[in-house]
Amino acid sequence: MNKELAELLRLRFGYTTDIDADIPVEALLMSVLSRRSQRRYSAQPVPESLLAMLLACAQSASSKSDLQQYSIIRIKDAEKLNTIAQLIPDMPWITLTPVFLVFCGDIRRGQQISRLRGYANVNNTLDSFMNSAVDAALAMQTFILAAEACGLGCCPISAVRVRIGEVAALLELPDGVFPMCGLCVGYPASVGHLTMRLPPRVIVHTDRYDDSALEAELADYDARRENCYATTPERQLYRERFGVSGQYGWSEHAARRLTAREREQFKSYLEDHGFDLD
Ligand SMILES: Cc1cc2nc3c(=O)[nH]c(=O)nc-3n(C[C@H](O)[C@H](O)[C@H](O)COP(=O)(O)O)c2cc1C
Repeated sequence: MNKELAELLRLRFGYTTDIDADIPVEALLMSVLSRRSQRRYSAQPVPESLLAMLLACAQSASSKSDLQQYSIIRIKDAEKLNTIAQLIPDMPWITLTPVFLVFCGDIRRGQQISRLRGYANVNNTLDSFMNSAVDAALAMQTFILAAEACGLGCCPISAVRVRIGEVAALLELPDGVFPMCGLCVGYPASVGHLTMRLPPRVIVHTDRYDDSALEAELADYDARRENCYATTPERQLYRERFGVSGQYGWSEHAARRLTAREREQFKSYLEDHGFDLD
């Protein structure tokens, strides 16, 4: 039994799991199980050679039909990064990040290839849009896991889609390319915080979907999280609409969050920029 691995599993779920912690590839597993978003970075620069290696790792991610329908834009220009940070003022960690990447879904490259090879491309569809988003997300997550294994910390920034028009114009994204998510990357200035997850029995179903125990599981999960990190009244979401709750667990937070529609302009943005979502 690897005690550190077992402890990471306990921290991840808030209880002692029955997952076998005696597994040989423990260094990688420990790094994955320790994963956490980092929003505070030291001034230590990220070496170019390491960044190149991590981008190669990102490109090692699985990709639907090997079509590689994504692009990664590195923002090196401080003024451009500052403009992005100003567009998203509630996330000041963007200004302080040593490296900022934008992972984009990209169906344009396939269209270019079809044209160059002289074939009709009949795959500007909702499915292709989703495949490009999944490819970009897998590349980003592979980058994150590799970066963390090398001592770096990352924070995804889907908020780039809140001001999608401005961000896309700044990065000169052509039709068929959209920003899926930004990513801050740097050496962590603090240990950060490991977030407790739902128990595997809620997420993983056997042979058929079954959420009959959800309500009871949520109550237990809320209580486990509350024991570790209680939400202060100031951090309760939409207090002006829903007041301060004495029972403010993860499920209350999630339910409150889901009362506000996010990024309503996203579909029309995509349709105006080369995506056919039928
Ligand atoms: C697709 C995606 C988009 C995210 N967007 C943001 C964001 O805009 N700003 C931010 O601070 N964190 C963002 N995050 C980080 C999540 O808030 C974080 O993953 C979640 O709270 C769980 O914490 P953990 O990553 O430390 O486990 C994003 C994460 C993902 C996967």
